[in-house]
Amino acid sequence: METVLIVGATGNIGVSAAKAALSTGRQVLAIVRNSASAAKLFHHLGTKEGVTTVEANVCSETGVQEVIDQVEAGKLPAFQHVFSAAGGEYSATPLLELSTEELRHGMTVNFESNFWAYRASVPYLLKQNDPRSSWTVCTGAQGDIGARAGPALTQGALFSMSNAACRDNEKTNVRFNELYLYARVEVDEVAAQNGTMKASEFAKSYAGILSRPEIRSCRVSVCGPEDLEDLKYQKRPII
Ligand SMILES: NC(=O)c1ccc[n+]([C@@H]2O[C@H](COP(=O)([O-])OP(=O)(O)OC[C@H]3O[C@@H](n4cnc5c(N)ncnc54)[C@H](OP(=O)(O)O)[C@@H]3O)[C@@H](O)[C@H]2O)c1
Repeated sequence: METVLIVGATGNIGVSAAKAALSTGRQVLAIVRNSASAAKLFHHLGTKEGVTTVEANVCSETGVQEVIDQVEAGKLPAFQHVFSAAGGEYSATPLLELSTEELRHGMTVNFESNFWAYRASVPYLLKQNDPRSSWTVCTGAQGDIGARAGPALTQGALFSMSNAACRDNEKTNVRFNELYLYARVEVDEVAAQNGTMKASEFAKSYAGILSRPEIRSCRVSVCGPEDLEDLKYQKRPII
């Protein structure tokens, strides 16, 4: 049985990834901030079956590494896939008013969390050398739109990290992809109120990535519901 380690598992995108993992017959190892966040995850999934939770602070440099140490010690399930979607910091402060403190906070929550997750988990996947391994990060079009300065800067950094990781893993056992999202996705009950894309619908994109080994070192772009049935992907980096 394959297992997906999810970073940011309790958010809109993390819940979607967990739904994708479960619906494709995989198990989930979900990193949660605390028991309240774990309860939120189970509420949105409607089940606890197939889900193991572990508490860690993904906004600390060592948070995900501590989880990997527990996996290596046999205290948590081994995993073959990682989905990273820590973040959610979405402040509207204009660029000129962005304080150093706010800039750094946004970078830690939206960017460094995902980078630290990558740095901690990829060596584990390389060591396992399982040919099914994959690593996926969710990025947002805000990095191109620039309407929210702080979040835009963090997504720009994630785009660059994805390019580097696509290149570095082109020939490893780790199939790296960036899932680039233009639409707004929310957990189903909130999406139903706001008319946004439901996490359970967006789940089709990650289910597709998991099941299609030819999608490797790519940006998979989701702009609307039409992109969920027929995945749009392009090799990265573009030179
Ligand atoms: N949702 C979208 O439409 C969308 C669109 C484009 C891109 N994205 C990308 O996906 C990322 C996540 O979006 P989202 O909508 O899923 O955000 P979200 O619902 O706010 O979830 C963020 C996740 O990160 C965790 N987290 C945030 N701050 C934390 C902290 N200080 N300490 C520990 N954990 C923390 C949250 O834990 P808790 O549950 O405990 O708070 C949650 O698991 C964005 O930053 C962006 O890169 C999302």
